Amino acid sequence: MDPYRYRPSSAFNTPFLTNNQGGPVYNNTSSLTIGNRGPVLLEDYHLVEKIANFHRERIPERIVHARGASAKGYFEVTHDITHLTCADFLRGVGVQTPLIVRFSTVIHEKGSPETIPDPRGFAVKFYTREGNFDMVGNNIPVFFVRDAMQFPDVIHALKPNPKSNIQEFWRIMDYLSYIPESTHMFMWWFDDWGIPSDYRHMEGFAVHTFKLINRDGKETYVKWHWKPTCGLKFLLEDEAAAVAGQNHSHATKDLYDTIASGSFPEWRLYVQTMNPADEDKLDFDPLDTTKIWPEDLFPLQPVGRMVLNKNIDNFFNENEQLAFSPGVVPPGIYYSNDKMLQCRIFAYGDTQRHRLGPNYLLLPVNAPKCAHHNNHHEGAMNFTHRDEEVNYWPSRFNAVRVSEKFPISKSHVSGIREKTVIAKENNFQQPGERYRSWDPDRQERFIGRMAKALSDPRLTHEIRSIWLSYMSQSDKSLGQKLAARLNMKAAM
Ligand code: HEM
Repeated sequence: MDPYRYRPSSAFNTPFLTNNQGGPVYNNTSSLTIGNRGPVLLEDYHLVEKIANFHRERIPERIVHARGASAKGYFEVTHDITHLTCADFLRGVGVQTPLIVRFSTVIHEKGSPETIPDPRGFAVKFYTREGNFDMVGNNIPVFFVRDAMQFPDVIHALKPNPKSNIQEFWRIMDYLSYIPESTHMFMWWFDDWGIPSDYRHMEGFAVHTFKLINRDGKETYVKWHWKPTCGLKFLLEDEAAAVAGQNHSHATKDLYDTIASGSFPEWRLYVQTMNPADEDKLDFDPLDTTKIWPEDLFPLQPVGRMVLNKNIDNFFNENEQLAFSPGVVPPGIYYSNDKMLQCRIFAYGDTQRHRLGPNYLLLPVNAPKCAHHNNHHEGAMNFTHRDEEVNYWPSRFNAVRVSEKFPISKSHVSGIREKTVIAKENNFQQPGERYRSWDPDRQERFIGRMAKALSDPRLTHEIRSIWLSYMSQSDKSLGQKLAARLNMKAAM
C-alpha cells in the first residue's frame, strides 16, 4: 500500500463521506444519543471531531493588512536590466516568472469595508528559479515614520481606540503631531489618492530603497514602481459611501469578476536607480521612507509587466495562509541600510511563525517552486516526506553542496553605536511640492479632510497649532487656508 497515494485533499477521492481518519460516516446529520431525545454520547467520535475541527477553522488575523484579496499570474521581462542585476528572473527579455499578488487595506479587520481611506498593500511573490522574491509594498510611495521603533505606536494610534473599538482622529493626530515627517504621508492619505476605486486601478511601490547587484558585483540603489495599464481611479467620500452601502467587498469582487471574465489586469514595472556614490549629494536622505525620489532627477525605467490571469482556488489557502516578507530576495537584489527595511527583514517571518506556525514555508502557496533542500526539519505540522539518514551538513555520505557563490553587497559600513534621527530630515519640502502640484479643487478637498480630522473635539489647541505649523511649513497658503477653516491664527 502506498501511504502517499491518498494525500489530504478536498478533491474527493471517494464518493463516500469519511471522518478525518478515513473511517466511514453513515450518518452526518444526527448525533449519537440515548434514545430519540438525548442525552448525547461523547463517544460519538465523528461529532466530536467535526465540532472540534470547526472550532479551529480560524487562525489569527494579520496584525496589519488583515483584509485582502489575492490573484495569480506571471511577470514578463520587457526590458533588459542585466547591466544592473544578476537576478535570474530578470536574465533576459521575454523571461516569464509565475507569481501571486495580495492587495489589502491596512488598519481594519478582515471583514472591514474596502472603501475606507487607508493605504493599500501591494504585495507580490515571484516564484523564481533561484527561490522566492517578495516585493511587499503599498500603493503610497512614502510611509508615516522612518524608524521601525515607531511602527507599533503609529499602528496603535491608527487602529481603533482599545476602549471603545472606534477609530478616532484625536488619537491619530495626537500621536502623529510628534512625527513631523508624517506630513508627507498625509499628502497621499488625505488626498483623493486615499481611496482607490478598487485594486486594479492603483499603483504599487516597494517604498524602500533596495540594491541591485550585477554579475561584476556593482551595486545600484533601486526603487520599484508598479503602474496599472488601465489607469488610476479613486473614489471621493460620497462615492465611497455609496459603494460601501452596496457591497463592503467591492474591490475583492471587482478583481475576481474581472479575471473570471477573461479580462486580465496588468501592471508595468519600472525602476528608479541611483549610484550609491551620489547618496550624500541630495538635500534629503534617499534611504528615508518618508521621501520619494523625484522622477525628473531619477526617471522611471521600464523593466517588465505583470499579468493577473488566474483567480485563487481557495481563499484560506491562497490568501489567509499567504506569507510575504521584504527579507525574501534572490541573488542580485539586496537590502539598503534603510532603518525601516532592516527591521521588516525580521518582522514578517517572526509574525508568520506565530500566525501560521513554524512550518509556514511548507504551505504550498509559500513554498518555493524550484528545487530546494536544507536540514531545517521537523517541528509542528511538518508534512514533508523525508526519507534520509543524513540530516546534517557537511557529510561524506551525502553529495549536497553549497551553491556557486553569487555577488553579494560589499559596501563598507562603519560608525559608532547610537540611537538618533537621520541628519537630513527635510520634512516639509516634498509635502509642499505635492500640494502645489494639485489643481485648486483637489487642494480644497485635502484642506477639508485635514480640517475635519483636526475638528475632533478631543484635540487640544496645542495639537491643532502643531499641525497648522507643519502645513504652513509645507506651503504657506495651505497653512493660511487651513487656519481659516479652523478659526485659528495662521502659523508663522
Ligand atoms: C518596520 C515597519 C513595519 C513592520 C514592523 C511591519 C510589520 C508587518 C506585519 C507584522 C505584517 C503582517 C504580516 C503577516 O501576518 O503575514 C505586515 C504586513 C504587511 N506590510 Fe508591513 N510592516 C512595516 C512597514 C511596512 C511598510 C513600510 C510597508 C510598505 C512598503 C508595509 C507593507 C505591508 C504589506 C503590503 C503587508 C501585507 C502583506 C500581505 O498581503 O500578506 N509594511 N507588516
